[in-house]
Amino acid sequence: MSTIKTLTGIKPTGTPHLGNYVGAIRPAIEESRRDDIKSYYFLADYHAIISSWDPDQVHESTRNIAAVWLALGLDTDRATFYRQSDIPEIPELCWMLNCMAAKGLMNRAHAYKAAMDANVAEGNDPDKGVTMGLYSYPVLMAADILMFNANRVPVGRDQVQHIEMARDIAARFNHIYKGEHFVLPEAIVGENSAVLSGLDGRKMSKSYGNVIPLFCPEKKFRKFIMKVVTNSLEPGEPKDADTCTLFQIFSAFARSESEIAAKRKQYEDGAGWGALKQELFEYLNEELKGPRAEYDRLIADPAFIEAELKKGADKAREESAPFITRLRDAVGLRSLV
Ligand code: TRP
Repeated sequence: MSTIKTLTGIKPTGTPHLGNYVGAIRPAIEESRRDDIKSYYFLADYHAIISSWDPDQVHESTRNIAAVWLALGLDTDRATFYRQSDIPEIPELCWMLNCMAAKGLMNRAHAYKAAMDANVAEGNDPDKGVTMGLYSYPVLMAADILMFNANRVPVGRDQVQHIEMARDIAARFNHIYKGEHFVLPEAIVGENSAVLSGLDGRKMSKSYGNVIPLFCPEKKFRKFIMKVVTNSLEPGEPKDADTCTLFQIFSAFARSESEIAAKRKQYEDGAGWGALKQELFEYLNEELKGPRAEYDRLIADPAFIEAELKKGADKAREESAPFITRLRDAVGLRSLV
């Protein structure tokens, strides 16, 4: 039986929020502790420069996101945790894959199509502002995945199409260059990872501006929790836990089913919103204050983060370097002697 190899890329943009934590970071860290899975997590900084031309932003964001994962307890001896741009074999493979990827396939990529549709709707040239980076984004992603022959790729729904494209490109490469060079990856869309609601009750998302940051000073964090929208029921009136954002967030963090049941009972018994919010704040704060302090410590010690990433890159390159040599050979990029 082949080992399970899980790989996922984290685009270093913005600040992670509770929804990112519960939906992606926490399950990934849990998975990395399993003995039957070999996991690869990387900061997709080559992808970041597609959408951000602000060097300081890319740089800081890469540091911050690395610090978040480390502070939350990612075990870098088990998982391979690296920065994409530390692996020169990735852009090299990306080029080989560019030579396999049909242009027509890329025309259908949803990020590119959305950019085109927006241009057309505004009466602009369809390709206005579209770089080759954006256009061939899925090819770089395929290189990320195929470089390590990952068979499972946990992603959000919006990325499933990209994994299918990676399969397509990999299959074509295998066919043209007659061999099982690449494993065909599968998208894993977390069914058991929770989707959190945000301040206004819609899905917590940066694009809705309704997020609660994962790490921010305690006072600010409390203010965020206080801002969660509830209804106008008074203390003493029974409340519906299942439609309540506070309850949903609590449930995603609760340590046991019995804690959730006890919280539900408080709703039925008519607890007031103020008290429920204060309790949620205290509960989350208890959970997050350790990692938050560790995050602050790491941000003040970038050399430590850098060393962790370098360690990950060394591990990753132990695989990518010999593999790219084989691939170069397969496509005919060989020494003459
Ligand atoms: N495109 C992914 C996102 O925006 C990030 C990413 C880059 C990725 N390379 C990847 C995810 C490889 C999975 C596998 O979320």
